[in-house]
Amino acid sequence: MTIRPATRADLAAVHRLEGEAFGAEAYPRFFVRQAWDLWPGSLLVAEVDGELLGYVLAGSGEDPAEAWILSLAVAPAARRMGLGRALSEAALAALGEGRRVWLTVAPASPARRLYEGLGFVEARREDDYFGPDEARLVMVRSP
Ligand SMILES: CC(C)(COP(=O)(O)OP(=O)(O)OC[C@H]1O[C@@H](n2cnc3c(N)ncnc32)[C@H](O)[C@@H]1OP(=O)(O)O)[C@@H](O)C(=O)NCCC(=O)NCCS
Repeated sequence: MTIRPATRADLAAVHRLEGEAFGAEAYPRFFVRQAWDLWPGSLLVAEVDGELLGYVLAGSGEDPAEAWILSLAVAPAARRMGLGRALSEAALAALGEGRRVWLTVAPASPARRLYEGLGFVEARREDDYFGPDEARLVMVRSP
């Protein structure tokens, strides 16, 4: 497995993975492109045998002490093989030491356990974070 910063040529595949993972809630293509413009060093992809099978998007906050993991997705056929954890660890490393990192996760998502294993704890629950019936746990990892 190779984890590396995304290139412009990867963006279509990143958007496909995003769509497979999040369906109607997926980020639109233009957001993926502009996220890469804004945070080129923390849009990372995972490749296995030359195939792009996962990605993670993180970004810095206006306060340099704060950052967010905004999206994480692994191709359905490649799940439970460690890619999600490896991508998350690489995103945290790319963000650097000494920052508070935030993310949101659906309360029943399997990703919750992954994040807990990386040191994230629940900061709060918002019942309508993304709109009605779209509850999210806001999790934080302190430096
Ligand atoms: C969440 C997701 C990125 C995990 O990727 P992955 O490559 O399968 O994750 P890993 O193999 O690295 O698993 C790491 C840990 O996460 C947890 N985990 C992952 N998938 C799980 C599942 N289906 N059920 C229970 N625990 C799970 C486990 O604790 C696992 O550790 P273990 O395998 O040692 O038990 C992937 O399932 C995915 O893309 N889901 C759809 C999109 C999504 O929900 N993204 C997260 C949004 S916050």
